[in-house]
Amino acid sequence: MKLNFTINDLNQKITSFERRFNDDSEYSDDFKKMMVILNTHPNFFNAEDFSHFSLKEIHTYIERSHDHYRAYWLFKIEGTIEQLVANTNTNTAKVIKAFFDHFKNELLLHMRLEEAVILKFVENHLYGVVNSLQLQKMVVEFIQTHSDNIILDLPKIFSVFEENDPSLNANLIYSIFKNQLSNFQNDLKAHSFIEDEVYVPKLLGLVSEGLQFNDN
Ligand SMILES: [Fe+2]
Ligand SMILES: [Fe+2]
Repeated sequence: MKLNFTINDLNQKITSFERRFNDDSEYSDDFKKMMVILNTHPNFFNAEDFSHFSLKEIHTYIERSHDHYRAYWLFKIEGTIEQLVANTNTNTAKVIKAFFDHFKNELLLHMRLEEAVILKFVENHLYGVVNSLQLQKMVVEFIQTHSDNIILDLPKIFSVFEENDPSLNANLIYSIFKNQLSNFQNDLKAHSFIEDEVYVPKLLGLVSEGLQFNDN
């Protein structure tokens, strides 16, 4: 990942970074810097840049990001949509609300399942609890069937909304909504790259060690 950020730029971004990074004790400065860059430029992701970070750091980031999505992004965007519904006369705002509700429910379910299987497994490991063979099998099965296609093709969706209701282009609340959703999408993209290409490979390493141990 090569970008032209000065250390000052980065430090400024880090100090204003959202609440999930506020507790310094959980992360190295290096990890925070890398995450600040990745969150704004997820397409620059390179798994090798993150592979040396500890499982605990990555795990804490995943866990706190889920909390952050629930407490911050979903809440914030829902509020914007409510304003849009209250301030427009067309049905498009209601369609946007229905679309977002669907997306939100899918994301909530996705996170709940990850927490119940993957995060639980890693937490046990971090706290020295031996994972049962049943849980190890569940983790492998879950990883094989789980996908992060929850990240929607947003530009296409926006163009459908805008074709349906051209007045949206001049609507300030809609442009705020669009901006928030795009930022959230970048955050989710960064999250799913870390999850799929850094966290899961580390996790599979643990599972295979555990399975060998249990098979013996
Ligand atoms: Fe996740
Ligand atoms: Fe995920």
